[in-house]
Amino acid sequence: MTRKGILLAGGTGSRLWPITLGVSKQLLPIYDKPMIYYPLSVLMLSGIREVAIITTPEDQPQFQRLLGDGDQWGMQFTWIIQDRPEGLAQAYLLARDFLNGAPSAMVLGDNIFFGHGLPEVLARANEQDSGGTVFGYHVADPERYGVAIFDADGRVTELVEKPAVPRSNFAITGLYFLDGRAPDIAAGIKPSARGELEIVDLLEHYRAESSLQVERMGRGFAWLDTGTPGSLLEAGNFVRTLEERQGMQVGSPDEIAFRQGWIDRTALADRAQAFAKSSYGRHLAGILRDKGQ
Ligand code: TTP
Repeated sequence: MTRKGILLAGGTGSRLWPITLGVSKQLLPIYDKPMIYYPLSVLMLSGIREVAIITTPEDQPQFQRLLGDGDQWGMQFTWIIQDRPEGLAQAYLLARDFLNGAPSAMVLGDNIFFGHGLPEVLARANEQDSGGTVFGYHVADPERYGVAIFDADGRVTELVEKPAVPRSNFAITGLYFLDGRAPDIAAGIKPSARGELEIVDLLEHYRAESSLQVERMGRGFAWLDTGTPGSLLEAGNFVRTLEERQGMQVGSPDEIAFRQGWIDRTALADRAQAFAKSSYGRHLAGILRDKGQ
């Protein structure tokens, strides 16, 4: 069965209050694009065209205004509401009908990935039909994340959510490739002490049956945090530096759709024309001229 995508873009964004009292975190700008373009691009790079976008009830209209039904990128979006932010694993319950037994790739709407070879890494995860693949990233502050602990052979032995005393620096990033059983397994999870269905508990099920791969993303990759005012600004500056230096774009759904062959030159030209006044649009026009990229 073809893998389907889940883009989780609800949450409260309380670390960004008062900014996020009036607008969803995932709609905030990361330099020249809305934040949600970046995780959406990761699903697109994985080859996924059918995506469920999960939002709060209040924010759904703005997301729909921005993203529509996906047709402009040769994709198909399904809109799902999460009434309350009751945990990342809840997404699999909400998306159960949408998935209809298919394997999935879920990405958190505030996670930004960048790195040489990312499409290959994603393709490998996509090929895995059974079990799950997640990504470990070396961080300076593992106590803020779910972490993976490995044995001497590099096999994952334990997953711990926000450990007070971390025994590993490998945080689990917000990108999860799981097989078609994920909604059933999520249904068996009990809420944690903080009242959430924890993704770590769902992943633990796969780990316990030895079907969880934790792929380590090396130092050539960037996994950026966007959850606080400082990290939001830093992520924007990072993207700006890359884009201005290289003259290429990070996280452009229009470009990826074109390169994947999901939209043709005429469609890309129309988009470039519609956005002609912005650097985003000028970049699209540049793709049509430049064959060397
Ligand atoms: P978090 O950063 O853990 O939470 P948050 O975005 O609500 O922010 P804060 O901690 O500042 O209050 O969420 C990670 C991502 O997952 C983010 O994109 C929001 C999303 N999310 C949901 O959509 N539903 C949920 O139930 C939770 C917990 C998070």
